[in-house]
Amino acid sequence: MAGKSKILIIGGTGYIGKFIVEASVKEGHPTFALVRETTVSDPVKGKTIDNFKNLGVQLLYGDIYYHESLVKAIKQVDVVISAVGHMQLADQVKIIAAIKEAGNVKRFFPSEFGTDVDRHHAVEPAKSAFATKAQIRRTIEAEGIPYTYVAANCFAGYFLPNLSQAGATTPPRDKAVILGDGNAGAVFNYEGDIGTYTIKAVDDPRTLNKILFIKPPKNTYSFNELVALWEKLIGKTLEKTYVPEDQLLKQIQEAPIPINIVLSINHSIFIKGDHTNFEIEPSFGVEASELYPEVKYTTVEEYLSRFV
Ligand SMILES: NC(=O)c1ccc[n+]([C@@H]2O[C@H](COP(=O)([O-])OP(=O)(O)OC[C@H]3O[C@@H](n4cnc5c(N)ncnc54)[C@H](OP(=O)(O)O)[C@@H]3O)[C@@H](O)[C@H]2O)c1
Repeated sequence: MAGKSKILIIGGTGYIGKFIVEASVKEGHPTFALVRETTVSDPVKGKTIDNFKNLGVQLLYGDIYYHESLVKAIKQVDVVISAVGHMQLADQVKIIAAIKEAGNVKRFFPSEFGTDVDRHHAVEPAKSAFATKAQIRRTIEAEGIPYTYVAANCFAGYFLPNLSQAGATTPPRDKAVILGDGNAGAVFNYEGDIGTYTIKAVDDPRTLNKILFIKPPKNTYSFNELVALWEKLIGKTLEKTYVPEDQLLKQIQEAPIPINIVLSINHSIFIKGDHTNFEIEPSFGVEASELYPEVKYTTVEEYLSRFV
């Protein structure tokens, strides 16, 4: 483990956090997870924590709303990765305050793992959620904390098992609904690969104060291409319905929380093409599969093949 930074993951028991914790251990980093004491007794999360113990993860009890616990945990490590969920995004200012007080952090990864929140065309309510993440970026920069922002694009597990068909739990066998004209490119990444690329970036000077875009060449698909791939895999042609943008915007306005959030994120990705409608300039970003060609990432085709 010589030379490998000590990593603290806050939100390690969450959906994406688990993959980051596992990747940190796998890449040989001394790995610490901040866990809430109440979570240990939770029947489902308790199993995740038992798994962490088996992997050799050092558990540190704490809470982002308990400043001393955060400072104490942060002082033991070199790098802090936050994977807190939607409700805690704005409160990451508390992590930033603790990092400032601790004074030893070489790199901070705030909870992002989605669209690049400085380059998007989202409508409400996604617009406000992205603005919250962007505001955290501005606070980190104003405080002079070294950072990497991970733009992981779509989590495969959220978008592919139902081919992004609203309300479905399996991919379609007869009919597919396609948003917009279906031509905007979107990027889908397996969560284990997101964890691996995130951890690879930790000690890499090329990712310092940059956005790490996870956009491997075989994982960009338009909605039309995704449906065509699925048709090829199942050997059947689906009946397609296209939802024009104005119709989707109306659905977003009428839908309750959290469906309106999901629909507005889909609008940004599949209609506005916010994963692919810009070039990654060296001034602000780097691409993960270019930096780490040794990572054998899961392709969209491999991922979808599981559901045939
Ligand atoms: N690109 C995509 O497709 C996609 C999809 C979903 C999410 N995301 C993004 O991924 C990031 C993480 O989201 P997620 O869905 O993985 O999160 P999540 O499953 O909701 O997990 C949240 C984590 O935060 C922890 N936490 C909550 N309150 C805390 C507190 N007071 N102190 C310390 N820890 C606390 C939770 O701990 P407990 O276990 O104790 O509750 C849990 O570990 C977010 O930025 C989200 O926007 C991206």
